[in-house]
Amino acid sequence: MHLLSIDEFDEKRIDRLFTHANNLQIGILPQPPQFKKILANLFYEPSTRTSSSFFSAMTRLGHAVLPINEVIYSSVTKGETLEDTIKTLSSYVDIIVLRHPFVGASKAAARVSSVPIINAGDGIGEHPTQTLLDLYTIWRKFKHINNLTITLMGDLKNGRTVHSLVNVLRNLYDVNINLVSPDNLQLPYYLANAAWRNFDGSSAAYDHLPKSTSLTESICKTTDVLYMTRVQKERGSVGKYTLTKDHVDLFKKNMIVLHPFPRQNEIPTWFDTDRRAYYFKQIQNGLYVRMAILSEIINAK
Ligand code: NCD
Repeated sequence: MHLLSIDEFDEKRIDRLFTHANNLQIGILPQPPQFKKILANLFYEPSTRTSSSFFSAMTRLGHAVLPINEVIYSSVTKGETLEDTIKTLSSYVDIIVLRHPFVGASKAAARVSSVPIINAGDGIGEHPTQTLLDLYTIWRKFKHINNLTITLMGDLKNGRTVHSLVNVLRNLYDVNINLVSPDNLQLPYYLANAAWRNFDGSSAAYDHLPKSTSLTESICKTTDVLYMTRVQKERGSVGKYTLTKDHVDLFKKNMIVLHPFPRQNEIPTWFDTDRRAYYFKQIQNGLYVRMAILSEIINAK
C-alpha cells in the first residue's frame, strides 16, 4: 500500500487516521511490535521536520530506520538512477519514504518498488503527509473542518503543501477558501481546474476565482485558518509578504495561523507567543499523524 497522493484518501479513512493519531497523542500507546520493520528515509532534497518526524515516528512504534538524508554520500553521486536505488532499497527495507525534486518521482518509484513508497514531497507536486497533519491540526482545534474559512497565503504556485491541501479541501470538505499571493505566485491553472468543483476551465472563470494579492481587511476578519507558506526560491519563485500587527489586530480571537515551515520573513517571531500561532503545535502533531500513517501501512501488509 503506497501513499503517493492525497487523492487516495476519503473522509472515512482520514477520520480513522485522526482518531488513531489522537489516541497516540493522548498516550494510548501501541504494544511493541513482534517483528521489527525497517523504514528507509530517502531524501534527495533538504528536510528537517519531515525526515526527523518519520524517523521519530517509526522508532517510537518500536521499529527501525535507515536514514539516507544526504544522498551525496550514496551511489546517487555515481549516477545511479532513482529506479535502481529504489529496487536496491526494497531488498533491505519494508517502507521507503521518498523526497525528490521531480514531480511524479514517487509514482515512478512505486512502479519499481516491492515495498510501500510514501511520498514526502515530489518537486512542486504533492506532499500528502504534510496535508494530513495540517488537516489534523485544524480538526484538533475546531473539532470539524466543514464550514471553516481557510485562507492560503504565499507561494501558491510552487508550494507543494498547498497543492495537496487545496485539493483535499475542495474535494472532501465544504469550506470557504481564500487564495492570497503575489500575482506571479498564483495557484496554477491546472490545480484551479481540479480544485474548484464548479470551475468551467475558462480563463475568464479562472480570473474570477477568489484570488487576492494581499490580506485584505475582510479576509483578516473572516479567516478561521490562515495557512502561510514561504517563497520557494529554489524553484525560481520571487516575492515578499509578511504578517503585520495591523493584520493580527483584525484577526478573530479563535482563529489559528499555520505554516509548514521552514519560514522566512512571512511570520515575524513576535507573533510566536500569540495564542493563535499554531505552527509549533502543527509540527508536534506531525509526529502522531506519521505514527498513525506508518501503523496503517505496516498493518495493511
Ligand atoms: C515543506 C516542503 O518541503 O514542501 N516543508 C515541510 O515538509 N514541512 C514546505 C517548504 O519547503 O516550504
